[in-house]
Amino acid sequence: MRRVVTLYRTTVGKKVLMALSGVVLFGFIFAHMLGNLKMLAPATDGHFAMDVYAEFLREVGYPLVPHGGVLWTARLVLLVSVGIHVLSAVQLARLSRAARPSGYAKEDSLSLSYASQTMRWGGVILLLFVIYHILHFTTGQVHSSFVSGAVHQNYVSAFQSPLIFLVYFVAQTALCLHLYHGVWSFFQTLGLSHPKYNHLRRPFAAGFAFTVYIGFLTPPTLVMTGVIF
Ligand code: HEM
Repeated sequence: MRRVVTLYRTTVGKKVLMALSGVVLFGFIFAHMLGNLKMLAPATDGHFAMDVYAEFLREVGYPLVPHGGVLWTARLVLLVSVGIHVLSAVQLARLSRAARPSGYAKEDSLSLSYASQTMRWGGVILLLFVIYHILHFTTGQVHSSFVSGAVHQNYVSAFQSPLIFLVYFVAQTALCLHLYHGVWSFFQTLGLSHPKYNHLRRPFAAGFAFTVYIGFLTPPTLVMTGVIF
């Protein structure tokens, strides 16, 4: 444990924790994107595929674990990962500011790379989006016609509004850029680079980010255009 704390105190340690928590978040995002594709599946016996899937997520593991046990464990893991990811990001930003020589007359935005600027602002947008998103689809406070448990219906009524579509579109664009830079720098941080494969890192990161982007935005687009109802 002491070793972990000592490692965390170093810049490299913070970067490693950021990369590892990023992998957990990435895994969730990818699984969530695949789950959302259930909106494209046909209903069976009058039950929407999305609702069957949502029910499965609540009940998976029962009776080995209590009702909702796996779901709550996943929520806890996600919350801890978001906490670690954000905390290390804030501390790394502070460290890099402190390491810069003092006496700059101007704001240092020009000296920050385009990628790290995108990561910071993208991260803030994503954090705000996740809070809004949970109030929208999970607890329903900011959904105009939320019905608890009726995930398909909540989804369709939400994306019939172009404004809601726009909010999700902007958030997914921020996510796409964040994933692109994140996946790319993941290999860098963990030292997973090899001269033979380095040229594949950018296309690999771009491929992942773009797959998630298209996967997330396809069902809302089909709802807005009236194909899914
Ligand atoms: C177009 C994009 C997205 C759509 C349409 C969407 C849709 C949904 C829906 C319908 C739910 C509720 C599921 C249920 O009640 O069973 C949900 C939950 C959730 N989504 Fe998304 N999602 C999107 C993107 C994202 C992204 C990018 C993130 C994270 C960065 C995210 C994080 C979450 C979280 C944390 C929950 C709550 C899970 C829970 O505690 O029950 N979503 N999403």
